[in-house]
Amino acid sequence: MTIIAVDGPLASGKGTIARALAAKFDLPHLDTGTLYRGVAVSVLEAGKPPEDAEAAEAIARTLDISAINEAKIRTAGAGSAASVVSAHPGVRAALLKLQRDFAHQPGGAVLDGRDIGTVIAPDADVKLFVTASEEARAWRRHTELTSRGEQWSLDDILGQLRQRDARDAARADAPMVKAEDAIELDTTEMSIDDAIKAAIAAVERVSS
Ligand code: DC
Repeated sequence: MTIIAVDGPLASGKGTIARALAAKFDLPHLDTGTLYRGVAVSVLEAGKPPEDAEAAEAIARTLDISAINEAKIRTAGAGSAASVVSAHPGVRAALLKLQRDFAHQPGGAVLDGRDIGTVIAPDADVKLFVTASEEARAWRRHTELTSRGEQWSLDDILGQLRQRDARDAARADAPMVKAEDAIELDTTEMSIDDAIKAAIAAVERVSS
């Protein structure tokens, strides 16, 4: 069984890297951010603010993953609301078992998020913590959102990114933090291909 944990801040490249590792090592992959985004969108659609911990927890407890709408969860608004709902301990508790079970399925898995190496699978065989400069991440997120038709200035994106990083790192329950035994991968100067190659090399080094 091989569990690969890929953590890091938004637009660091962790999702792309996790998907590529899953393909390379033939492992199932879970982007855990989709769960928090799914909860956030449902909370908003129920007419509640993401700060409403009780409403968010109730929705997290009955979240139907198959009903998560990919287009709706990928907006900047859904990302910010996801960061807010993910700080509620009840929401995290409601989503814990699903993620732990996914990580520990026979044969192994790749998961990406903020707390995979620290909380979901502290026993992971390989832990990567993917980073990049704020500017590089803002530029990537801007390109991504613009290609989906969302109009934001680069400054707006940089502001949102700083706010989300601060919230994700400062929350009391399962904050975004590099696990002590994680390998840090700074993708600021890397192309997508180079980042994927570096991640594959890191996994092969640890597993050999
Ligand atoms: O990775 P992402 O942008 O899709 O994540 C959206 C939000 O979900 C992020 O700001 C914090 C939260 N999240 C989390 O708290 N723990 C995870 N394992 C994954 C995401």
